[in-house]
Amino acid sequence: MEEIDATNLPKHIAITMDGNGRWAKSKGKLRIFGHKNGVKAVRDTVEGAAEIGIKYLTLYAFSSENWNRPEKEVNALMTLLVSAINKETKTLMDNNIRLSTIGDINKLPSKAQKELQEAISKTKDNTRMTLVLALSYSGRGEILIAVKNIIKDGKEPEEINEATFQQYLTTKSVPDPELLIRTSGEYRISNFLLWQIAYSELYFTDTLWPDFRKADLYKAILNYQTRERRFGKTTEQLQK
Ligand code: FPP
Repeated sequence: MEEIDATNLPKHIAITMDGNGRWAKSKGKLRIFGHKNGVKAVRDTVEGAAEIGIKYLTLYAFSSENWNRPEKEVNALMTLLVSAINKETKTLMDNNIRLSTIGDINKLPSKAQKELQEAISKTKDNTRMTLVLALSYSGRGEILIAVKNIIKDGKEPEEINEATFQQYLTTKSVPDPELLIRTSGEYRISNFLLWQIAYSELYFTDTLWPDFRKADLYKAILNYQTRERRFGKTTEQLQK
């Protein structure tokens, strides 16, 4: 933590939490045991991000495609989500963290929706960090909804540019992530924040999500701080 340059922190970190199933399998347990232990990693990572001064943390908790998993696993994940939100709302309040969501929340079981709504409204005035949970989320789905709403609003082609398009995304009030982390040694984007990650630095680690802790987050941030972000320019232009 001490090695991190506080003047060069990403404002927004997005994480694809992957590897719960493999973690459980390696211990001879059912997949849901991995998800349960994934919640511990969520808690430690959220705490670590807030402590170091990250302003936005987005966690890919459940993709639109995850609905295709066995019903038993989907149900267990939803139950886990409800209990985690219920248990952790106090921790969010104590740490001045605001909760928000992206994705098709209406698809979640009503109990999960209710629990989320309560936590979102309770934490709405918190200012230290915003925790965004991506639930029933897909990047392509989000872009399609934006296009449909632009058409509904009767926008003319010349009115549409990157800035106006961005206003139609569910992340409109969140800056693009400077850093995207994926755990478990998979090198894929998997339909996460497709528009928003145009210039994100990507960081992959073999650590399986249930083993991920704040020290792993800090390692990723340190690695990010070694990157030269050129946004299409040359190194020489950046040095001017
Ligand atoms: C990916 O591992 C993980 C998920 C699909 C679920 C992530 C959810 C949690 C960590 C709990 C959610 C709780 C809160 C509070 C956000 P995988 O099942 O794809 O693992 P595998 O690739 O090894 O099979």
